[in-house]
Amino acid sequence: MLGRTLLSVGAFVGALVRPVSSQSPTTTSFRSIFTVPASADASVPLIPNINDPQAVNAQEVCPGYKASNVKQTTSGLTADLSLAGTACNVYGTDVDALSLTVEYQSDDRLHVEITPTYVDSSNSSWFVLPEALVPKPTIDAHGNSSLQDNDLKFAWSNDPNFSFTVIRQSTGDVLFSTTGSQLVFENQFIEFSSSLPENYNLYGLGEVIHGLRMGNNFTRTFWAADVGDPIDYNIYGDHTFFLDTRYFEKDEKTGNLTYAPNATDPTAKYVSYSHGVYMRNSHGQEVLMRPSNITWRTLGGSIDLYFYAGPTQKEVTKAYQTSTTGLPAMQQYFTFGYHQCRWGYTNWTELQEVVDSFASFGIPLENIWTDIDYMNQYRDFENDQGRFGYAEGAKFLSQLHANGQHYIPIVDSAIYVPNPENASDAYPIFDRGNATDSFMLNPDGSLYIGEVWPGYTVFPDWIGSVLNGTGAFEWWSDEVERWYTNVHFDGIWIDMSEVSSFCVGSCGSDNLTMNPVHPGFQLPGEPGNIIYTYPEGFNITNTTEYASASSASVAQASSASVAAGPAPASTSTTYIRTTPTPNVRSLEYPPYVLNNINGALDVHAVSPNATHHGGTVEYDYHNLFGHQILNATYHALLGVFPGKRPFIIGRSTFAGSGRWAGHWGGDNTSLWAYMFFSIPQALSFSLFGIPMFGVDTCGFNGNTDEELCNRWMQLSAFFPFYRNHNTLSAIPQEPFRWASVAEASKVAMQIRYTLLPYIYTTFYLAHSTGSTVMRALAWEFPNDPTLAAADRQFLLGDSLMVTPVLAQGATSVGGVFPGVADGEVWYDWYNQSAITAAPGQNITIDAPLGHIPVYLRGGSVLPTQEPGMTTKASRSNPWGLIAAIGKGGNAKGQLYMDDGESLVPNATRLVQFSLTHGALHAAGKGAYVDTNPLANVTILGVQSSISRVTLNNASISTGWTYNDTSKVLDIKGLSNVTFAGAWSRDWVLRWS
Ligand code: GLC
Repeated sequence: MLGRTLLSVGAFVGALVRPVSSQSPTTTSFRSIFTVPASADASVPLIPNINDPQAVNAQEVCPGYKASNVKQTTSGLTADLSLAGTACNVYGTDVDALSLTVEYQSDDRLHVEITPTYVDSSNSSWFVLPEALVPKPTIDAHGNSSLQDNDLKFAWSNDPNFSFTVIRQSTGDVLFSTTGSQLVFENQFIEFSSSLPENYNLYGLGEVIHGLRMGNNFTRTFWAADVGDPIDYNIYGDHTFFLDTRYFEKDEKTGNLTYAPNATDPTAKYVSYSHGVYMRNSHGQEVLMRPSNITWRTLGGSIDLYFYAGPTQKEVTKAYQTSTTGLPAMQQYFTFGYHQCRWGYTNWTELQEVVDSFASFGIPLENIWTDIDYMNQYRDFENDQGRFGYAEGAKFLSQLHANGQHYIPIVDSAIYVPNPENASDAYPIFDRGNATDSFMLNPDGSLYIGEVWPGYTVFPDWIGSVLNGTGAFEWWSDEVERWYTNVHFDGIWIDMSEVSSFCVGSCGSDNLTMNPVHPGFQLPGEPGNIIYTYPEGFNITNTTEYASASSASVAQASSASVAAGPAPASTSTTYIRTTPTPNVRSLEYPPYVLNNINGALDVHAVSPNATHHGGTVEYDYHNLFGHQILNATYHALLGVFPGKRPFIIGRSTFAGSGRWAGHWGGDNTSLWAYMFFSIPQALSFSLFGIPMFGVDTCGFNGNTDEELCNRWMQLSAFFPFYRNHNTLSAIPQEPFRWASVAEASKVAMQIRYTLLPYIYTTFYLAHSTGSTVMRALAWEFPNDPTLAAADRQFLLGDSLMVTPVLAQGATSVGGVFPGVADGEVWYDWYNQSAITAAPGQNITIDAPLGHIPVYLRGGSVLPTQEPGMTTKASRSNPWGLIAAIGKGGNAKGQLYMDDGESLVPNATRLVQFSLTHGALHAAGKGAYVDTNPLANVTILGVQSSISRVTLNNASISTGWTYNDTSKVLDIKGLSNVTFAGAWSRDWVLRWS
């Protein structure tokens, strides 16, 4: 019965409107406006299925399917699947007839799709994810010959019911098998399950704050949520892709492989095989990893699975990106400089002071950001003219740009609706969007009005725009272009794009005359929400401040409990369960309850029954809002800067967002734990094809402290996207706030800026081939099973390893030096000497505060440039090379150059470096001209003393030294002989 009540409530958004006008207005010190009651963002208490002791196990009650009419096709097979017994209708209505399509799409990709069989072509009631929104991998153009070479093999059985298996033919390994489980296919619930080998290693399945390796007893929920980085829960983005890596012991004589789930024998020889699995589905989903199997559940759509054969992570990731998500957008050179942001920069003058402070402390600053503070009452595309006026801004920005620096403002996803009774509350941005059908609707065709920072708001309708040609994309581009005429920004930060709404349902419909309103919670720093928290260990390092902060915090908590209002739904002990209604979908309260962090699907998000132009519903598209706003913003920026690479950092992402934008890790907290989690989060985004990733350095929520900020500024210097960001009212955390942090930041930035050519080249390779930028140790050393879960160290590109201190109070850190058993050589970045390490040995590395251990991998040649205060300055400085001699006495590397900004550069140059037997060759291709000379070449690991150095056979008589202890040959003074440009011609440098 309860289910029916819920259904009728959920079926009409209008019924969910909570008129607040009858409640007495409250005021806050923030601004004297109506505060929406907290209860407006609470929904009915639901118990998540995975926690519900009464939950029905679909596997026990559902009949499964039988296959018939199996037909071979040129690329695979098709079959009909029909329900093998009485419908179970467990979390929806069973679909009687399904169609199976199997395609060998290329020599390393297999596609398995199961959709309802359409009775006739006019039966379009079933949701099919449109390719216009999420492209579908297709059969390779190479023709069918390559399909036969596929290492993956699809097999199926009808015993006792339909099941399928994917096998790796070369090893006979079963990669995926639904044998022994039932296929469940209902209108609001699809379930399939595969066995997995003991102690399996899965990676990916984001976005989540979790260790890199998922573990064997963990449920991942997929529902884009505006929530500040809870550990193990669903957060902003959805990436239903996993990498599965299996280690085998290899018999040296026979070559036989034995699965090695607990491979620890240091004398044994192991190999690994990896494959990838992607589920192309935009619905709310859940993936249950259990000790011997994985179960996939989704609230709609179809089973649209892609298997990538690998057999290495590198091949899987490349195949996933090139065939499926698209390759990541190339970024402008300046985006690799340092970014400073905070919520709470209150005017242009303050911004100028921050910029000036960086300069006076001698800390490089490339990009200054503003949060919502710059907006006129938190409204997109309008500046507050008192504090962030256009004329003053123009002066600030022209000075900033003249210094080679850049400005990135935030743009939120929701659009303010002006108060209809207040003529002075005009907001033409809304009017233009409304006139072009650019906003989402209620089921009755009226505007869907939720609530975000500015008050009651509408939400752009990207889906209607793509599928039905309504105005959102064009309107968005137009607004971005109009605003640019007033504010010369250099990129855009997209926020709140899950899409977040601070109330349940179309809560503003009857309340627009109250606009603007204040959210139903206190902003940071408002009474009741003063920030008193500090990182772990602050009680040790700063006892007095800790004591006063903790007593103030206790006092705030006790007075807050009086003002807190109704308890949120999730803490209630009385739960409501919904029951399926035949053939009618319950959009807001689907019978299968996801373990969504915010509870019901409509809490803190636009409701699932919000409607797009053309009639489709949010239920089916919720997870794509963040993806499509990035698409819209990318195209808007192309309008503002024709031919230039758009720079966008977005919050909610989906498979494929990387081709438009980068991502930051969201609202983390100033805790040591979150500094650690930034590494696995970044590595996961490497797998998702979004390499432009970084987190809020020094932490967002809570106050940071000197020690944490010191360590974190150094760690983030090795992430592709390097930004410090802070919440409103927390203590300031720019690196110049503490002497030790300023110094530590300079040290790390000096390394980063020296390596910009290497980082840019690595990023270019990711953009052009689908390789990764930040890498897990396991990916570079795939035959070492002890690295399967390693996420406290990482590589930047293939040549640089970072072993950061991640613990408060530590002055040393344990680190491994992978590959040494096979002759890998590692060099300390700072003293340039080779490390002595035994295979598997966890070495204690000295790392006092201000020192981040960084290692060069033998066998690499890294291009460098003398670091400047901006990337522009760096780009006009002399070049250098660091060659680290590896096993066999060799090394290689490359350098990619272009103008650093064009989408399609009119000239590029790629220089290949190879070192062998006392000679380093540089050979370039391409027309891009750079005239900076080569200042120095440093060669690490030169074993015998040197008496002669030549460049293109001309002797270099002075300027070089050889250190017999460190084994470093340091060749300076090459500028004279390379004044026409380091890479303008090929050369060979020899030493003997
Ligand atoms: C969201 C963003 C955060 C931003 C804040 C105010 O919480 O994730 O980065 O500072 O909104 O705009």
